Amino acid sequence: MKPYVYVTRKLPEEVLVSLQDQYEVEMWEGEDISVPHELLLEKAQKASGILSMLSDSIDKELFNQAAKLKVVANLAVGFDNIDLKAANEQGIAVCNTPDVLTDTTADLTFGLMMAAARRLVEADRYIREGKWKSWSPLLMAGMDIHHKTVGIIGMGSIGEAFAKRAKGFDMNILYHNRSRKPEAEEALGAQYASLDELLAQSDFVVCLAPLTPETNGLLQREQFRMMKSSAIFINAARGPIVNEEALYEALVNGEIAAAGLDVFEAEPIDKTHPLLSLKNVVALPHIGSSSVETRMEMMKLCVSNIKAVLEGETPKTLVNKEWQK
Ligand code: DGY
Repeated sequence: MKPYVYVTRKLPEEVLVSLQDQYEVEMWEGEDISVPHELLLEKAQKASGILSMLSDSIDKELFNQAAKLKVVANLAVGFDNIDLKAANEQGIAVCNTPDVLTDTTADLTFGLMMAAARRLVEADRYIREGKWKSWSPLLMAGMDIHHKTVGIIGMGSIGEAFAKRAKGFDMNILYHNRSRKPEAEEALGAQYASLDELLAQSDFVVCLAPLTPETNGLLQREQFRMMKSSAIFINAARGPIVNEEALYEALVNGEIAAAGLDVFEAEPIDKTHPLLSLKNVVALPHIGSSSVETRMEMMKLCVSNIKAVLEGETPKTLVNKEWQK
C-alpha cells in the first residue's frame, strides 16, 4: 500500500501529480476555507506526510495522535503554526519554504510601504467613488520614501532583501535583530540600532521578524508612542507581533501617521475590525509571497521535502535540525 499524504488546501493539478505516482494523496478541496481542525486530526492519524498551510494549527494533539506521520511540509517560511517541540518529541521532520520566497516577499513589503506612504489605495478608491473633480496641488499628497530613514525589525533574509531595495531608493537604513549582520552593514550601509533607537529615528518602521516568544507582543502602545508622529508602520511578518488595539489607538490619536498591514492577529481579519475603518491603513490578505512563480516554487519545495523524508533522505529545508532520519 502506498503511504498516504494529506494536503490541507487545494493545490494545482501539476503539483499533485508529482506526489500521486508514489503516494496515495488526498487534498482538502476548500479554496476559501481552511480544513476544519477535527478533520485534519482525523486525516493525520493515517498520514505519513502532511503538506500544510500557515493557517493550519499543527499542534501537540495532532502530533500525539499521528502514529505514522514522518513529515510536515509547511507552505511558508514561518512555522509558528507548528508545535516544534511536539514534532521533536515524536521524531517528525518539519520543513518550511525559505529562500524561494525572499525576493517576492521583500517586493510586496516595499510595495506596501509605498502604497501607505503615497496613499495609492486611498487614491484608487477616490477615483472609483467619483470624487475626482479636478487636479489640485495637494490632492492625495503623501510622504516621500527616498532619502528617508527606514528601521527594519528582523534582519533575516527577507529583511536584507528589503534593505537592498531601500538602498536603491537612497534610504538611510537602521535595523534591529537578535544578532548583528556585519555583511549587511558593509554592503548596504545598514546601521544596527536598539529597538528604542530604531523606533525613535525611523520615518518607516518595517516589521519582518519571525513570530517567536520574544517577538510576540513586541509592539505595544509604548512602542508606538516612541515613533515619530509622521512615522508609517509596516507589518509583513506575523500579526501577533503587534498589539492591534495599541496600533489602532496610535493611528487614531495621530501618534503615527499610517500603517500598511499584510498580517493580522486573527486571520482572516473581520471586515468590521476597527483598523479597517481607517483611511490611513492599507490592508492586504497575507500575500507576502504570493506571486504565481514563487507560490509554485514553494509548492514544489514542499513536495520535494515530503519525498525526501519518506524516502529516508534529508529534506532540503528542514526546520528542526535535531531531527534524525
Ligand atoms: C510566510 O511564508 O511565512 C509568509 O508569511 C507567506 O506570505
